[in-house]
Amino acid sequence: MSTIESSIDPAKFLLEKGEVVAIPTETVYGLAANAYNSAAIEKIFEIKRRPHYDPLIVHTSSLQKVENFVTALPDQAYLLGETFWPGPLTMLLPKQSIIPDIVTSGLPRVGVRIPRHPLTLSLLETLSFPLAAPSANPFGYISPTTSAHVAAQLGDKIPFILDGGSCKVGLESTIVGWEEGEPIVYRPGGIPIEALNEVLGIDIKVKPSTDQPQAPGMLSSHYAPLKPLFVCHDLPALIKKNAHKKVGLLTFSKLYPDIAPELQIILSEKGDLQEAAQRLFASLRQLDAMECDIILAEFLPDKHLGHSINERLVRAAAQ
Ligand code: TXA
Ligand code: MG
Repeated sequence: MSTIESSIDPAKFLLEKGEVVAIPTETVYGLAANAYNSAAIEKIFEIKRRPHYDPLIVHTSSLQKVENFVTALPDQAYLLGETFWPGPLTMLLPKQSIIPDIVTSGLPRVGVRIPRHPLTLSLLETLSFPLAAPSANPFGYISPTTSAHVAAQLGDKIPFILDGGSCKVGLESTIVGWEEGEPIVYRPGGIPIEALNEVLGIDIKVKPSTDQPQAPGMLSSHYAPLKPLFVCHDLPALIKKNAHKKVGLLTFSKLYPDIAPELQIILSEKGDLQEAAQRLFASLRQLDAMECDIILAEFLPDKHLGHSINERLVRAAAQ
């Protein structure tokens, strides 16, 4: 089983030896290895059972360090980096050859992010290399937002989990890239699209997810619990339709009649989207472990973080 501790020293020691360790970030826990070391990166793909066509995000601690492994930082990227880093934003930027092809699945761009978690930031500051890290879950399952989530699924496969408490944002980073100079959101996430629009002064384009990914990793079935999940705008109607089944509910801000309260999880009683995002993945895990056969969820208001949450629910339901 992995050692779980809040000290960065064992993490640094293991990462320098080419091992894989789990690290906390403000979004979700990551499964990290030296981004310059192909053999170390190969271990991440094995541990996660992740297909090699799905590229990894590279984490570092300053804009200055980003310039060690990308060939260009467009003005808009610089602006977004200055505004949102450290934070839940990933940018796809042209890579230098020091980033091995296995990290980017052979693509010319590398996903870059400066995470906002004090432990992981200080770890990144002491390392002489950046860390490639996907979310620390088996491929296709819900992302982990606590060290216990990581230990439950990957504890027998990794030597160390850096414990940084529960993730404050709770949703993966928003991914932005440029095509012919035009910014595009590839994955809505912890930075709301409205916030990007405000900084860039435009309405940024969003590429919908698809089963035939143009960019690797844009698979629509993702972030899924093991139980069937159905998501809708009219939860009472869906409850009625499933009256003969043992259902668990994921609701936004209130309990519904006809279903036992212990089979319902409310994301935020005050209807706060930030709190709902923070609790989303842990709640799906709880429902997955409950005495129910299927999970019914309702869409949240489709703005700000609600948009990112809805996108995760759609993907989790796409099994
Ligand atoms: O918040 C996050 O982004 C978390 C934490 C650990 O940083 N990481 C994360 O990684 O969510 P992962 O591997 O679960 O999802 C990253 C996604 C990939 O599925 C892929 O779609 C996209 O990022 N991606 C990464 N590099 C890319 C590239 N070079 N081109 C296109 N898409 C890329
Ligand atoms: Mg993931």
